[in-house]
Amino acid sequence: MIHLPLSSKDVLNGLSPKRTVELEQLYGNGDYLKILNLLGVAGPFTVHSPWELKDPKDVIRINAASFAASPFGEHYPPLIEFITEFLSQHKYMLLPQTALSEWRAALEANLIHLLASLAPSHRDSQIFFANSGTEAIEAAIKFVRAFKPKCKYLINFKRAYHGKTLGALSLTPNEEYQAPFRPLLNNIITLPFGDFQAFEDCLQKFGASNVAAVILEPIQGEAGVIIPPQSFLQSLGKLCQKHEILVVADEIQTGLGRSGYYFASIEWGGLEPDIITLAKPLGGGILPVSATIARKDIYKKMLGGLKCKSHSTTMGGNALGMAIGLKSLELIVENNLALRARQLEQTGLTYLQALQKNYPKLIAAVRGFGMLFALQFQPVIATKWLPGQADLIGELSGILAFRALHQGGIQANFSLNAMSTVRLTPALTMPDNLFFEMFNKLEQTVSSYQASRALFTKTPLPIILALAKAAL
Ligand SMILES: Cc1ncc(COP(=O)(O)O)c(C=O)c1O
Repeated sequence: MIHLPLSSKDVLNGLSPKRTVELEQLYGNGDYLKILNLLGVAGPFTVHSPWELKDPKDVIRINAASFAASPFGEHYPPLIEFITEFLSQHKYMLLPQTALSEWRAALEANLIHLLASLAPSHRDSQIFFANSGTEAIEAAIKFVRAFKPKCKYLINFKRAYHGKTLGALSLTPNEEYQAPFRPLLNNIITLPFGDFQAFEDCLQKFGASNVAAVILEPIQGEAGVIIPPQSFLQSLGKLCQKHEILVVADEIQTGLGRSGYYFASIEWGGLEPDIITLAKPLGGGILPVSATIARKDIYKKMLGGLKCKSHSTTMGGNALGMAIGLKSLELIVENNLALRARQLEQTGLTYLQALQKNYPKLIAAVRGFGMLFALQFQPVIATKWLPGQADLIGELSGILAFRALHQGGIQANFSLNAMSTVRLTPALTMPDNLFFEMFNKLEQTVSSYQASRALFTKTPLPIILALAKAAL
């Protein structure tokens, strides 16, 4: 019999941080973890409270990370109690797809009810469940293809982030991520985000009847919280409706509360998308759960009648995921978390704007939308030291700023499509006192650096050298 080196009991009893690092570097995405570990930001962390993390040295930090996927924080008692009760009732562990599930049925009904209360034309829309966000996008692409097989073009926007599986990657226009994997889907037209004139011109140039769909994030998250002019979404929606072009709203990051709205594209943007993707908060920060919602006629074109198997994923719609989704949605709605995010937006932004005003040599720009906050840092070294390497300098600036925030007591996020930008995405349930403490810590950190050059000069040389080696 094979003897496995580590038992689950060993891990329950606690694996040492040193061993964890060793194993992760050996057998996981080692180089990524190596860089995080080298920067001293990789934990492993334990939960101090739903909103605070403890590192191996017992230092407690405010958790503003998790890439906007944690609506309630870690180990949030109301969710954990529900899951424990669910798991104690073994009868509910149903087969994912080949049996009815009351959990899935209830989540479907609640999601459509919520959506239709804001956009009545969605009252008979239907949902396809998967796991990650990128899978929800894959489903959306296939819905579009099945519904509009003769229209060859898809329109997306510069610096959009829709995921990294091949279909979704085709819609994520970032050379670093796309270049090694070409050929990707072709006939993708990428336009400047928020520029309605460019959109109109594009329909003229390529012919509106050749365009199958437009895909957009109402607010671009991974691009560093980029907010288009409010009229952009509505104008785009009207033009698409006129030309029968489908609109896919990727609400994976903005949806279900984070942006201050359940569906930012609808409530803030005045757009009625045909297809909507959701993920991150739907899994309550515990499991990957994603959803692609499509109008009935679009849904039926791909999954109607005998075609009902033409798209599937084994674990999509599984009982545990659906139960967590049901409870998460309930907690978000019953606690009015979208409204709370909207209310805290101005408080957070006021702090950030004051910081940017006081430390312009460190912070180039700040943005906020709901509980999505972004700080864009100035380059840490002048371009003359690394000519032609503006992107690398931007990345280094973001990494060193991320490290500085960590040292100052805040665990933040990188931005996958804007490397000089660090984002704060605290849980929507974060108590007021911790929310204020987070900004106080931020102010202390920022004031101890003052200018971006200090992020570089105050970083120990071995770290700079190791980063340089990793970059080369
Ligand atoms: C708007 C948006 N779409 C899609 C994705 C991809 O989701 P996942 O990382 O779960 O595949 C993300 C992830 O950050 C996102 O922000």
